[in-house]
Amino acid sequence: DSKRDLTTYHPDYHYTSEKNWVNDPNGMVHLDGEYHLFYQYNPFGEKWGHMSWGHAVSADLKTWKELPVAIPETKNSDGSVNMVFSGSAVIDTLNTSGLFEEGFKSGMVAIYTAHIEKDGKGIGQAQSLAYSSDKGRTWKFYDKNPILDLKMTDFRDPSVFWHEGKWKMIVVKSLEYTAQIYESADLKNWELVSEFGKIGDYAKIWECPSLFKVPIENSDKFKWISMISSAHEDTDYVGMQYFVGEFDGKKFTPDAQTGVLRIDYGKDFYAAVPFNNLPEKEKNPIIMAWVNNWAYAVDLTAEGRRAMFSMPRKISLIEKNGKYKMVQKPIFSDNIQTEVLNFSMNNSANRKTIEMKSNSYRLNFTIDLTDSKGFSIDLLKNGDEKSTINYDSITKKLSFDRTKSGVVNFNEKFPSVERMTVEPENNIIKLDIFVDKSIVEIFANEGQAVLTNLVFPKNIGGSVNFNFVK
Ligand code: FRU
Repeated sequence: DSKRDLTTYHPDYHYTSEKNWVNDPNGMVHLDGEYHLFYQYNPFGEKWGHMSWGHAVSADLKTWKELPVAIPETKNSDGSVNMVFSGSAVIDTLNTSGLFEEGFKSGMVAIYTAHIEKDGKGIGQAQSLAYSSDKGRTWKFYDKNPILDLKMTDFRDPSVFWHEGKWKMIVVKSLEYTAQIYESADLKNWELVSEFGKIGDYAKIWECPSLFKVPIENSDKFKWISMISSAHEDTDYVGMQYFVGEFDGKKFTPDAQTGVLRIDYGKDFYAAVPFNNLPEKEKNPIIMAWVNNWAYAVDLTAEGRRAMFSMPRKISLIEKNGKYKMVQKPIFSDNIQTEVLNFSMNNSANRKTIEMKSNSYRLNFTIDLTDSKGFSIDLLKNGDEKSTINYDSITKKLSFDRTKSGVVNFNEKFPSVERMTVEPENNIIKLDIFVDKSIVEIFANEGQAVLTNLVFPKNIGGSVNFNFVK
């Protein structure tokens, strides 16, 4: 299909590597005015394998520059390989690790899972270190790796942060649905201080845990959030959840909660983790995710660009009746190519059709639901092809239907309809919709409910149609 050339699905304002397979964001960290995004990367092809850390940098979290592979897979003398699985990076300002020259303040340390594979089979996972004195461009492996080894096959994804004079690590025993918290003075020696597990959603194994402090809007208070990647509401798919609670430096105590707290209601938001070492002026944590789902990731049809990353999102909490809820605000690259349109819809006779020349745009809707039963918005509509948002004022469910979105048949789990609850405020719903070639991110009511999905339209350009349901 000539229309579906290599650039068709390459997003304009989301980051993806030029070629090859990617999955989880790793080791996101800020240093001296530069934001680093490392990520799971196969330097040799379009399928998962040879897992290494790819690398991109940005000055503003909006446009990214891809750099050479940062931390590569290595071979052992017995024929096994050490893959570099997910993990985090920190700036060892005080040289607590002793891995840098005296007085050097910009040492970067990656704490990752060494995944050992022999004859195509995983035989062990342990936490290891690599370090860089040149802002992540070149790396050395610590010569006494691993630094934390329980002799398990599924023990992974360490997320390390600095807290009150010590390093803390949260890491998961995936098959036991358990997160462990460790403490260290030097990044090399780790002591177990607490654990929690088998709470919330554990319909699928636990991966990519994190733990970070989050400000509560309109107050000077904060709480802690722990994010865990596991199952989607529809347990055929992976998805993410979060817990809100308190952290006393050793133990994370989640608040009582009803049901599972979801970060994103779409199918394509996984393995999100926060940046470390943000500049002073950033008061909110910032997360990024892999936009994909293990349910069909390996069958994706994006010709050499099998997946991408979400926009970075600023995280805060809002309090409602003593309960806390995560709010996410995207950091949008307002580059000149991307059309941004604003609409105020406020009468059930009101409808709108807009012709778009490209598949990359942002739509801001303020919708007054007075006298209407809901609304629908077709995106990327071209002939029979469309991606549709529906809202029902009675059930308060917003759905996203990608069953007719274009190329859907590469995997039976791909054509799907997602749903999330969106509560109108004074009868008004606000939708901030980001369409970027193959990614749709929908932020409802200023980031209180979010839905992210991949789509693969066959056409370039099409219309957006807004209609009220009377
Ligand atoms: C999550 C994950 C991690 C692992 C990595 C391997 O998507 O399975 O648990 O470290 O991907 O690529």
